[in-house]
Amino acid sequence: MSDFLTELDELATAAQRAFAAAGDADELEAARVEFMGAKSGRVKDVQKGLGGVPKEDKPAAGKRFNEVKQQLQAWFDAAQERIKAAAVPGKSEPFFDFTLPGRAPRLGRLHPITQTIEELKDIMGRLGFSVADGPEIEDERHNFEALNIPHDHPARDPLENFYLHTAGVGAGQKQAPMLLRSQTSTVQIRVMENTPPPVRIIALGRVYRPDEVDRTHYPMFHQMEGLLVDRHVTMADLKSVLRLFASSYLGADVHIRFRPSFFPFTEPSVECDYYWNGGWTEFGGAGMVDPHVLQAVGYDPEQFAGFAFGLGIERLCMRRHHITDIREFYRNDVRFLHQF
Ligand code: PHE
Repeated sequence: MSDFLTELDELATAAQRAFAAAGDADELEAARVEFMGAKSGRVKDVQKGLGGVPKEDKPAAGKRFNEVKQQLQAWFDAAQERIKAAAVPGKSEPFFDFTLPGRAPRLGRLHPITQTIEELKDIMGRLGFSVADGPEIEDERHNFEALNIPHDHPARDPLENFYLHTAGVGAGQKQAPMLLRSQTSTVQIRVMENTPPPVRIIALGRVYRPDEVDRTHYPMFHQMEGLLVDRHVTMADLKSVLRLFASSYLGADVHIRFRPSFFPFTEPSVECDYYWNGGWTEFGGAGMVDPHVLQAVGYDPEQFAGFAFGLGIERLCMRRHHITDIREFYRNDVRFLHQF
């Protein structure tokens, strides 16, 4: 009898150790088969010894055997729980509170000028203008000559423009001078050269001028050019389009005014101002297309008339969002850019 009980005790101790040592489900399963396997488990082996126990001791030995069996099952269950818990993410890892709001990913966004350009296209599209495009590196014909800006005009001064170094191309030949366009009016010429009237276009893009940098000037900025050529176009059409545009983009309560001005490519010419912060700020130039310009592109000025305008996109965007320094657009400080 005591041999049997000793064997039982040894079995219990060994099984407890094996279950506790199992690190994963496979190891635990191996231990289960070793001890509790139905065919050749060690419990089964010990059970065989029960037959050799004297008759009067049998009830006590059987009771003890059953206790040990139950104990093994309990240790096994505990080990199984432990291994399962370790496999569940979150239980063994640091506390994860899934009721907290998520962290929003930091998305990039469009530059405020790009957003403004999209909105301007939208507004002018509703007024029937389609979008045209032209190169930023231009020749003198498109930036000056066809726009009625003669050779000796101060606007052509190399100090007022970004001329490119154009090397000669072969003996005796000189390459035409090229410059970064100083105005989007170049696109007026390109469109009229390629399309018969009527035309109704806008062109939005960068222009370059060697200006001193300050709150309202930057050597590169954006313009929106507009051109409408048709029969019977008058200054009243120009003014109403610009007024409609200004109230669409800046709000119905915006005040704008037109001042007489001069541009070589429009006659008569005006400058447009909006009212802001107790004063008038210029946001562009405009006028009736000069007959010389129409002639330069092969349009008949006796039959067709047109108006054109060129607006500073930065200035419009500044007024809209109460930005007081144009340099903010080009510092690329995300704290600024993130607000749009
Ligand atoms: N191109 C002129 C400028 O840059 C603006 C303008 C465009 C004026 C069209 C009249 C007509 O200042």
